[in-house]
Amino acid sequence: MPQARFAFPKGFLWGCATASHQVEGGNTNNNWYAWENEPGRILFDQKSGKACDWWAGRWKEDFDRAAETGQNAHRLSIEWSRVQPEPDRWDENAIDAYREMIRGLLDRKMVPMVTLHHFSDPLWLCERGTWENEQTPELFARYVRKIVEALKDLVNLWITINEPNIYTYGGYLNGGFPPGKNDLKAAFKVFYHMLKGHSLAYKIIHDLQPEAQVGIAPNYRSFVPARPWLPLDSAVANLLSASYNDAFPNATRTGKLKFAFQSADIPEAVGTLDFFGINYYTRDLVKFALKPNQLFNERYFPPEAVQSETGFIANVPDGFRDGLRWAAKYRMPIYVTENGIEDAKDSLRPSYLVEHLHQVWQLANQNVPIKGYFHWSLVDNFEWERGWTQRFGLWGLDVDTQKRIRRPSVDLYEAICKQNAIHSEVVQRYAPQSFNRLFPE
Ligand code: NOJ
Repeated sequence: MPQARFAFPKGFLWGCATASHQVEGGNTNNNWYAWENEPGRILFDQKSGKACDWWAGRWKEDFDRAAETGQNAHRLSIEWSRVQPEPDRWDENAIDAYREMIRGLLDRKMVPMVTLHHFSDPLWLCERGTWENEQTPELFARYVRKIVEALKDLVNLWITINEPNIYTYGGYLNGGFPPGKNDLKAAFKVFYHMLKGHSLAYKIIHDLQPEAQVGIAPNYRSFVPARPWLPLDSAVANLLSASYNDAFPNATRTGKLKFAFQSADIPEAVGTLDFFGINYYTRDLVKFALKPNQLFNERYFPPEAVQSETGFIANVPDGFRDGLRWAAKYRMPIYVTENGIEDAKDSLRPSYLVEHLHQVWQLANQNVPIKGYFHWSLVDNFEWERGWTQRFGLWGLDVDTQKRIRRPSVDLYEAICKQNAIHSEVVQRYAPQSFNRLFPE
């Protein structure tokens, strides 16, 4: 059989992404802990509990796993409620614990990418209205200053806010995330304040650390009109894309936030990105519907696409290509800050992984400056309102015993990371269903 090889740029970062509340365990001082303790909020009322037990030190064994299998980077987040348990108190021990964790990455020759806000907020902030409060951007900025002062000798790559669009949709439009509202006005406020918080954070990070690289990690969802010949479907697909995908990053170019029929000036956001992060999972077909509260649409997965175990994600690598092209419009280095699939049996993950990486390779070789890829995730972790029902890890997790289960995708990802390339024989071996798609006759 002829051999082929899709080579990635020299110095490409290969890693996984995680978030504090999802992996640390024992986070009892944030909005998600409170949410988990309200009956009916999380599927089967499951709790994060010990999660992956990282706070007790199990990050060490998981970082070993990552490093031994060829990963040279890792994206993790800092838990605001740990380092600032009360408005007027910093927990220096918690900050030291993060220093140790990040040092743990550097010792393993892995580049850290650090997210400052990944969905969870301290309880004291919730009492003050979380991101609906106009003082929150300043409060966030104080926390960012504290963290950057403490970690700047160890970290160069910063993400200010993870998925502000999902945070806002989940918490203020569809109600699945805390505080469970359905209120377009509040959603706009939250989005606007997050953008303000991001802009302040950008400036603080650069004041403290001029060489730092700062970005965001928006969720990109590919929205395609279900009936391309019907102008109404195209109109709602565009509206959705403009509000969901474009609103936040566009404001960093235009100084104007436009979101779901509302808009506001925010000149301080201009020029506040050094790189562009993208979290991509899936694509939707969009149909016009008379539902004003849902931005006049109905959505469903392309019927021909294979779906993940619980139907949360459809495998549509073409949507990823759209996303990477969209990111490329911002003309800055790009990191894939998340991409992955829930698949306890690991039956779809190998195909999903190689087919999505194939898109990264294609664009990188068309001179799109993609610098790294962070798979979601390293080990199964607490999947927010879906609890433990979805398993995104390369390694599985037995939550009760904390035993890690090595899935076949580990070997596949290891081969790719170590070779900095996708070899045809690796695809043949681990994802034979994708072979013809990647290497057509
Ligand atoms: C994106 C979020 O950033 C992450 O926290 C979540 O677990 C994954 N999507 C998978 O749903």
